[in-house]
Amino acid sequence: MAIDLVLVVGATGSVGRHAVAGALDAGYRTRALVRDRARAGRFPEGAQLVVGDLTDPGTLREAVAGVTGIVFTHGSHGDARAAQLVDYGAVHNVLSVLDVPARIALMTTIGVTKHTPGHDWKRRGERLVRASGLPYTIVRPGWFDYNEPDQHRLVMVQGDTRWAGAPSDGVVSRAQIAHVLVASLTSDAADRRTFELVAEQGAAQSDLAPLFTALQPDPAAALDGVLDRDNMPLDQEPAAVVAELDAFRGRF
Ligand SMILES: NC(=O)c1ccc[n+]([C@@H]2O[C@H](COP(=O)([O-])OP(=O)(O)OC[C@H]3O[C@@H](n4cnc5c(N)ncnc54)[C@H](OP(=O)(O)O)[C@@H]3O)[C@@H](O)[C@H]2O)c1
Repeated sequence: MAIDLVLVVGATGSVGRHAVAGALDAGYRTRALVRDRARAGRFPEGAQLVVGDLTDPGTLREAVAGVTGIVFTHGSHGDARAAQLVDYGAVHNVLSVLDVPARIALMTTIGVTKHTPGHDWKRRGERLVRASGLPYTIVRPGWFDYNEPDQHRLVMVQGDTRWAGAPSDGVVSRAQIAHVLVASLTSDAADRRTFELVAEQGAAQSDLAPLFTALQPDPAAALDGVLDRDNMPLDQEPAAVVAELDAFRGRF
């Protein structure tokens, strides 16, 4: 799938701003989705601005028109309801109005498979992406910008086993998270990969291909990451969540 026009969801966010700049630097036509043009602040020259509310699919059609790549960097900071509406809702609503296939890069979080209301809604968003049939990469970053100045060597791990809920789970800069998200869009080796992303002591790699290539793909039809714990069985999920997941299966 050739990538030409990239939509950044959560473009005003702390990682989203880097993703907008990174997509422009990579040469893509880049569209920043904001909820309020007046409050959006400045984006680098060349970025297109489009207004939409992630909680309202009817406002998102203009945002997805013609896109060939979507980078999701949104997120809520509130309660379970906010996580449902924003963290999960953004994925559901943006993909619901997408009518031609696009490559997806979705940011969630390290520890997403450890049950909390917020994590569970992010994980359900991951499941929608896997079920959709779209090509995707799911990046679960460690703690943003808790890295020391000499920690830039990227490490990708799978299975989401780091559950401390503290920077000991891993750290990584916002700029590097955005770089990996944008780079994944054109990498065959990153397709259907789900991984945790942290940085350790050392220099940043100039080529991410060896890192992506070392990862295992999520099995066809899998709802979770390839090595994830099987701790959120579908038969214990809310009926409305199962119905929305079923509606997404094989959409593309
Ligand atoms: N901090 C960490 O160490 C860490 C580590 C791993 C994962 N994460 C996860 O990363 C996510 C993002 O964190 P962040 O610090 O980058 O957050 P942020 O700077 O607040 O960015 C969140 C983005 O989502 C957008 N958004 C939220 N609700 C929206 C709505 N209804 N309609 C349109 N846009 C909406 C925000 O738009 P506005 O600008 O309009 O509000 C903003 O662009 C969080 O959910 C967090 O769980 C954080």
